[in-house]
Amino acid sequence: MKKLKVAVVFGTRPEAIKMAPIIKKLDEDDRFEPLVIVTAQHREMLDQVLDYFKIKPNYDLDIMEKSQTLNSITVKVLGEIEPVYHQEQPDLILVHGDTTTTFAAAIAGFYEGIKVGHVEAGLRTWDTQSPFPEEMNREAVDVIADYYFAPTEQSRQNLLKENHQDQAIFVTGNTVIDAMKYTVSDNYKNDMISGVDFSKRVILLTMHRRENLGEPMRNVFSAVKRLALENSDIEVIFPVHKNPKVRAIANKILANVDNIHLIEPLDVFDFHNVMSKCFLVMSDSGGVQEEAPHFGIPVLVLREETERPEGIEAGTLKLVGTDYKRVYDEACKLLADKVAYHAMSSKKNPYGDGFSSDRILEAIYKELKE
Ligand code: UD1
Ligand code: UDP
Repeated sequence: MKKLKVAVVFGTRPEAIKMAPIIKKLDEDDRFEPLVIVTAQHREMLDQVLDYFKIKPNYDLDIMEKSQTLNSITVKVLGEIEPVYHQEQPDLILVHGDTTTTFAAAIAGFYEGIKVGHVEAGLRTWDTQSPFPEEMNREAVDVIADYYFAPTEQSRQNLLKENHQDQAIFVTGNTVIDAMKYTVSDNYKNDMISGVDFSKRVILLTMHRRENLGEPMRNVFSAVKRLALENSDIEVIFPVHKNPKVRAIANKILANVDNIHLIEPLDVFDFHNVMSKCFLVMSDSGGVQEEAPHFGIPVLVLREETERPEGIEAGTLKLVGTDYKRVYDEACKLLADKVAYHAMSSKKNPYGDGFSSDRILEAIYKELKE
């Protein structure tokens, strides 16, 4: 019987981490012929994930530029991907989440008349400026998509509110939990991050969102610096995103503080395992908001709103925005108040059981073959 050809298209680190388990499953399943297309909107941070999961793309569009803009990424993806779709004619294109790669790969598929499946569909803030441009990207991709792989019931409800067809929506859980089955290890030793004293309370910091560049990021980093200077019994680890704009602010404010460790992006194996050993996470990342609840590690979310309300409801996430005083006060509270800390640190992961990829494959097969 002819196999279903499924093109899995992605370009950045978080998409790669969340698509990797799907690619692994497609590879193992005789019913499918996977075709991996990376745009390489990210280069080094994408390659870290490809190397870890031993994924060899069939096509690498290699589009990243140092000063890329949203338009330049879109134009390059559209131009480079058209001949690939045209030649390969996959039965389905799978895109993930809300990046510019996601949007461009989806619209190019639609123009080519190929069905599109959206993994991590239905997340919403309903504010196209926050996160920018991700909210617009995911809403637009859900207009384009034929199939929706919604991580939670709440994301399904969001899709229904927009009048997407109920029978095209599959609640699958989030594949990031599947990815953690490949990374999290009980025997992990943290000595690879030299200079970090893991007997102290460790705060893991990540920050990169476009709308936080500039003043909001300066406020947060200044608050973190004060925390570190006032608390010699904590360690701060910040794997700094490769974006030069983030690096410039981080180096200016956070360099040369003994208990702040500015390091290169960790590979996903180290990042997940280091997170599991942390006291607290401070982050504006999307993926991190799904991973930390799995370990019951509290997250101060450095944003004004989130498309991941499930983690807030579970109690593991708290939205604190980017105001200097608020961020400083909230972190101080968790350092000083055991009851407040305990209230946020129970393990209750609303994002799935680690079998999301299996559900996605079954749904694809059912829809396209049966
Ligand atoms: C993109 C996504 C964002 C996602 C983030 C994950 C869009 C619009 N945004 O944002 O949703 O949260 O990825 O990290 O798609 N760079 C490197 N090497 C790398 C990666 C990035 O040098 O491996 C530098 C480049 O100079 C690049 C810059 O970072 O120009 C910004 O990258 P870009 O993909 O444009 O935006 P992100 O902020 O990473
Ligand atoms: N991550 C990683 N190394 C790091 C920092 C993050 O592997 O040094 C992983 C993290 O586990 C999560 C993903 O990157 O799965 C999140 O990516 P990012 O914050 O860049 O993007 P977002 O999720 O906000 O789109």
